[in-house]
Amino acid sequence: MNITDLASNRFTTKAYDASRPLTDEQISAILSLLQNSPSTLNLQGWHFHVINTETGREKIAPAIFDLNKTKVAQAPLAIVFSSINTINDQHLDALVAQEEVDGRFRDAEARQKNDAGRRGYINNVAHSPEFQRQWMERQLYIALGFLLLGAPALGLHATPIEGFDTKKMDSILDLEAQGLHSVVMATIGYNSDADFNAQLPKSRFPLDKIITQL
Ligand SMILES: Cc1cc2nc3c(=O)[nH]c(=O)nc-3n(C[C@H](O)[C@H](O)[C@H](O)COP(=O)(O)O)c2cc1C
Repeated sequence: MNITDLASNRFTTKAYDASRPLTDEQISAILSLLQNSPSTLNLQGWHFHVINTETGREKIAPAIFDLNKTKVAQAPLAIVFSSINTINDQHLDALVAQEEVDGRFRDAEARQKNDAGRRGYINNVAHSPEFQRQWMERQLYIALGFLLLGAPALGLHATPIEGFDTKKMDSILDLEAQGLHSVVMATIGYNSDADFNAQLPKSRFPLDKIITQL
């Protein structure tokens, strides 16, 4: 299926078939979509909790709003997307070290220029803690988009989920101590016959309402 067909045929899954697990390869493919998502300045200010065991599902269940409880209980895979609270030196040091390992720099000068450029941008444009927090949260939605389009490309069904108590989730996963906070989730698996959304036509505003051509 080409990418525009995937985009128009995908849908939010409302009920999962709990008897169909994912293979390790399928889970790896989903995680690879998250890892390869782009982020501003390649900051990757995110962390993903992967829940694919009964113990994990039970652990996060208290944070899930009622409308999503069955989905999270029955999907073979759930992912909690968290972002860093602030962009600190430790994060920037780790980032430039990773880029070096990955062969991004011709020499020490190129490394230094890249590092200084990123820090300069952050100091000029993104120095306030509130800006940084919101900025990093926005990046998570790019990773979510990769996952939502990638899942059907892998023959899987997925649900984006904001319907959970982020404060409760932060406490369950002890995120504050890790300098993180949860923002959004996704479940992935195979839908069941009870998935009413699979049969419904997609509804979107027409292009002439949402596009302005200059
Ligand atoms: C960020 C985000 C959060 C969402 N949260 C939920 C949710 O908590 N529970 C749910 O059933 N659907 C959730 N949805 C699904 C939307 O309702 C759905 O994407 C929208 O109605 C369009 O339908 P479609 O995805 O089937 O094309 C969410 C979607 C997005 C993008």
